[in-house]
Amino acid sequence: TPGSPGTGSALGFTGIAPTPATTDAVVVPEGFAWAPVISWGDPLFADTPAFDFDHQTPAAQREQAGYNADYVQFSQGGAGDNGAHRGLLSFNNEYTNDELMFRGVRSSADLSDEQLEIVLAAHGITITEVARRDASSPWRWVQGGRRNRRIHTDTPFAVDGPAAGSPHLRTSADPTGTRVLGTLNNCAGGETPWGTYLSGEENFNQYFRATGAPDPEGRLRRYGITSGGRGWERVRDRFSVVDEPNEVNRFGWIVEVDPEDPTSTPVKHTALGRFKHEGATVALTADGRVAAYMGDDERFDYLYKFVSANTYREGDRAHNLTLLSEGDLYVAKLNGDGAADGEYDGGGEWIPLVVDGVSQVPGYTVEEVLIWTRLAADKVGPTKMDRPEDVQPNPVNGRIYAAMTNNTARTPAQIDEANPRAANKHGHVTELTETGGDHGALTFTWRIVLVAGVPSDPQTYFNGYDKSEVSPISCPDNIAFDQAGNLWISTDGMPGTLNHCDALYIMPLEGVEKGRLQQFLSVPVGAETCGPVILGPDSVLVAVQHPGEVSGASPENVVSQFPYRGDGQPRPSVIHAYRRHGR
Ligand code: FEO
Ligand code: CA
Ligand code: CA
Ligand code: CA
Repeated sequence: TPGSPGTGSALGFTGIAPTPATTDAVVVPEGFAWAPVISWGDPLFADTPAFDFDHQTPAAQREQAGYNADYVQFSQGGAGDNGAHRGLLSFNNEYTNDELMFRGVRSSADLSDEQLEIVLAAHGITITEVARRDASSPWRWVQGGRRNRRIHTDTPFAVDGPAAGSPHLRTSADPTGTRVLGTLNNCAGGETPWGTYLSGEENFNQYFRATGAPDPEGRLRRYGITSGGRGWERVRDRFSVVDEPNEVNRFGWIVEVDPEDPTSTPVKHTALGRFKHEGATVALTADGRVAAYMGDDERFDYLYKFVSANTYREGDRAHNLTLLSEGDLYVAKLNGDGAADGEYDGGGEWIPLVVDGVSQVPGYTVEEVLIWTRLAADKVGPTKMDRPEDVQPNPVNGRIYAAMTNNTARTPAQIDEANPRAANKHGHVTELTETGGDHGALTFTWRIVLVAGVPSDPQTYFNGYDKSEVSPISCPDNIAFDQAGNLWISTDGMPGTLNHCDALYIMPLEGVEKGRLQQFLSVPVGAETCGPVILGPDSVLVAVQHPGEVSGASPENVVSQFPYRGDGQPRPSVIHAYRRHGR
């Protein structure tokens, strides 16, 4: 089984070969099968209409699974999980492929107002109960589950933390600066020890039209807020920065949702800063506080850590729900120790931005640090990284793993030991070890454990493993761990860099197979592999995001019919890959 290093294969399956990029299939290892758990448009409530590609409505979409799943969270044991065959599945609906959702739409500019309303409703978060027939059957969503919920662009969120109520967060619809409608471009995320769902608002800039808006401090520019292009200002004035200058400051946060309570108000936590949040993953510090690790997914942007002011209390849910409301914020600097040792490695420090409620950045108030975190961080000299995606503590070895997906803009003059390749199109994965193994430490050591690419490329590195026995990989994005602490990596971008479908890999971190990267599955043409949840050695949940997203593809010119349910159009889905039992 996976996680039995030293017993022959640690993997428990035979890795698959790379899949040519035009393949319209999910490929799983021999002995495995896969099934869709839930797809875009599947009805969540008892009276929700079934999905009908040619007769979509905003009202139906507000009650159906959203589009383009990214982060996936699975839990069991909540109220309603009566037995081993019920669970709760939550997933981000990061963005929409408008050109694949509707016939005759070649770009967002072609959307009717009603289609725009459908698009707004397809963003956000989907929560659904799931069930399976028995332990060897795949999970499937439950229409009408008690905890089922759709969070979309009109769903109210509370704002908390030091910047809540700031004049910079007030709008004509919300003069208190504490209540926001919607969450946007939710990419990765993490589960808290108290069972809530954290989600990162990532490329929110694309929804705002800022043409003609004044930008004296360069704040809009630093966040890439320019001409928009999604057309949302046509149906909601608030997406026009000229009309509603502060609305854009109300996105780019980490949000927390209590998936067990469908009536709860989700929260945007300003204490964790505002940037293009890939996600946030938490671990307890030695003294019982909560550390949250975060990446800002942009070329040359930064890694961050939040540490709560207060400590976690086992079983005290009401208290734990306040932990991300107050604490310290840091940004990472990674120093190399030189190439002579043959490793990309060194030491590092967490540079303070906010400590004990006081700004550590000259010229910036706490509110300004939290709302314009990128500009505040620029002042203190952190390391400019190659697009930090998932940053996640390994629950088995206590180390932190961070995926740098790629950065083709890095020049030879901009190379450093932590970002060692110019025109880095394949990315790398970095391991951080906090001093004393304490997630509350302010210093750490680091080393790159994977320099991605084709193994025959001398620049690549697979944690020391024999490169004749590993799989090619490019553009690491989401990461996850199995119960044995093996690293699982999903990719976003391999069609463009290797002409392969995106895929999910396992890479053991210990034992005789340390660094032996093998491919577990691949997703169909145009899709990105997201989510992964490693339920067990033979059981993995994966989000298949943007299947069929290929230049020129449309409903009249489909390149993918994933998940092959007979309706002829690609439908982003969460799938379950599992070992087939019997014959
Ligand atoms: Fe939405 Fe950074 O990937
Ligand atoms: Ca070194
Ligand atoms: Ca991502
Ligand atoms: Ca991605």
